[in-house]
Amino acid sequence: MKVYKAHIVFTKERQRFEVLENGYVAVDNGRVCAVAADLQSLGCPDAEVTDFGNRLLIPAMNDVHVHAAQYHNQGIAMDLELLPWLDNYTFPEESKFSDVDYAERIYRRFIHHLWRVGTMRATVFATIHTAGTRRLMELFGEAGMGALVGKVAMDRNSPATLSEPVGKAIEGMQQLAEAFADPDGLVRPIVTPRFIPTCTPDMLRACGEIARRYHLPVQSHLSENLSEVALVRELEPESRGYGDAYNRYGLFGQTPTVMAHCVWSDASERALMRQNGVMVAHCPTSNLNVSSGMAPVRTFLDEGIAVGLGSDISGGHDLSIFRMMVYAIQVSKMHYQRSDHAMAFLSLAEAFWMATKVGGSFFGKVGSFEQGYDFDALVIDDHDLYPDDYSILQRLERFIYLGDDRQIVHRFCRGREVVLPDQWRA
Ligand code: GUN
Ligand code: FE
Repeated sequence: MKVYKAHIVFTKERQRFEVLENGYVAVDNGRVCAVAADLQSLGCPDAEVTDFGNRLLIPAMNDVHVHAAQYHNQGIAMDLELLPWLDNYTFPEESKFSDVDYAERIYRRFIHHLWRVGTMRATVFATIHTAGTRRLMELFGEAGMGALVGKVAMDRNSPATLSEPVGKAIEGMQQLAEAFADPDGLVRPIVTPRFIPTCTPDMLRACGEIARRYHLPVQSHLSENLSEVALVRELEPESRGYGDAYNRYGLFGQTPTVMAHCVWSDASERALMRQNGVMVAHCPTSNLNVSSGMAPVRTFLDEGIAVGLGSDISGGHDLSIFRMMVYAIQVSKMHYQRSDHAMAFLSLAEAFWMATKVGGSFFGKVGSFEQGYDFDALVIDDHDLYPDDYSILQRLERFIYLGDDRQIVHRFCRGREVVLPDQWRA
């Protein structure tokens, strides 16, 4: 049993922060067993208390959509829309990951950067390469951070260096599913058809089957860009739409599913997402950089669709989920203006809730300090950011808007403090 004292902030519900000034949280076996405003109410009188003093203690960040193998392209190549962007910049970079040494070097840097910005759980695309994907999973394991990692399935509209026959793709997925079989493990495989344009019907069907057989979650991209949506309509004439196509292959909520973007999802696609419990990974910087559009997050939330936040490196340029909250709020303010104020913009509490409790729910009981949740947490020393008269919530807001890794002084994943050596950056 461990007890931590600090200014504790988290969200249980959409519109409200829980704030415990000089509060306590008790952690046993990696999980929160109690949170209280004072030591007596905590109910663990004999536990040793670690006092973080005037610092903030918040849930760690969850990134529900990111491409580890695009880390080398972060912050460059912003001059094309999705389909030519993939062909000209992304596929050539991902092709390099047939070399496991190259993969290891980039993946270490990537994980170190995630760690720096306080992201303790991520839903990750690797590449088609099984050996490199396995290395990425092992590295997350070494780090002690949580990840759902996808070996990417591609067998059409892709260069020869990034295509794999269905049989070989499934064999690789099976190997990874068996090597990382513990359902409670921090690192798990996720079935990852890249998106419908790069996967034949046989590949999509096989992905759906393997997800069901091994009880694995699913991730992909959905209705991100108008040219992509038009292409899917051509490729899948029998489906009622893009989401319906995934659904017909058993890749749309038959096991837990997260779909990135959904910028152009129409009412019937959204109804299917809601019915099937498909989560949206909202990636505002990617949508801005690749000129995809503005995802209607307020509509998703009003309709009861779960929305987590994703960095989508390297369509997105910023790995920080704190900064993703800011972009999500800013994009929602564009919707607010464009809709003549009909679509209310996102509040800070809503953005924080999406980054922590909603995104975290894709990994289990993650993203809150309620009883039974994994203790995934960050300690924020923001003394260089605030004048003395700021409230706890003003300090948190300012950290979200202005802070960076310099203020994050401790990181916990499932109760264990995570410390990575500087060499991982090299
Ligand atoms: N759709 C298919 N692949 C990708 C990718 O790598 N990035 C983004 N943003 N969209 C995609
Ligand atoms: Fe993506």
